[in-house]
Amino acid sequence: MAANMVPVHSGKAGLDFKIRNVQVEDIAEVYKMLVANRPYVGLNSRYTYFLLARDFSDTCVVAEHEGKIVAFSTGYVPPNRRDTFFNWETVVKRGYRGYGLQKRLLLHQIKMANVKYFEGTVNPSNDASKRNFAKLAELLKAKCETKVLFSEADFGNDGHEAEVLYRIGPISQEALDSVMNLFG
Ligand SMILES: CC(C)(COP(=O)(O)OP(=O)(O)OC[C@H]1O[C@@H](n2cnc3c(N)ncnc32)[C@H](O)[C@@H]1OP(=O)(O)O)[C@@H](O)C(=O)NCCC(=O)NCCS
Repeated sequence: MAANMVPVHSGKAGLDFKIRNVQVEDIAEVYKMLVANRPYVGLNSRYTYFLLARDFSDTCVVAEHEGKIVAFSTGYVPPNRRDTFFNWETVVKRGYRGYGLQKRLLLHQIKMANVKYFEGTVNPSNDASKRNFAKLAELLKAKCETKVLFSEADFGNDGHEAEVLYRIGPISQEALDSVMNLFG
């Protein structure tokens, strides 16, 4: 789907969110949100986010509430696995968590990427993301395999938790459409 896809409004959980592709002009606001929502987010340079917005906006999204960005989710289709969407980082602003926004963002990204498999990594201590990935697999009636992608030792035991890969799929278009309909 094109980068300038029609924005999707999601209001089934009580708040109205507009999910749309990220643009370079959003990054100043996105970066402030990332800084404010540490420590869970492995904050990267602004330049990284500019490049994501410039070159991967087809698969990176923001959610807005009343015109303000309240969530950001990045990812891409790996060139050597074109049937897969890899989710790199998702952040939902405090105060907007628990509305199912992470699940909605991921569903929209899978749909935009037009793929059969979802991949994402989670730190072992991140209960909300672990729960959400497992729930996505269950809702999509798809298999979910997990393995350590990068261990603590890979990160030089510098305090960075392991990154555990969740691979979900194959995902059918029918299942995706019906779950998206459920979540808005
Ligand atoms: C992880 C995060 C993206 C979740 O966003 P969210 O929009 O609140 O997620 P959802 O509303 O879709 O779902 C939250 C689910 O986790 C559950 N949950 C929330 N906090 C939890 C916790 N501390 N422990 C266990 N479960 C938790 C909720 O009950 C909900 O499950 P349910 O749908 O079965 O009720 C958000 O908390 C966040 O931005 N955290 C900081 C950054 C981060 O960790 N990003 C992910 C790794 S890159």
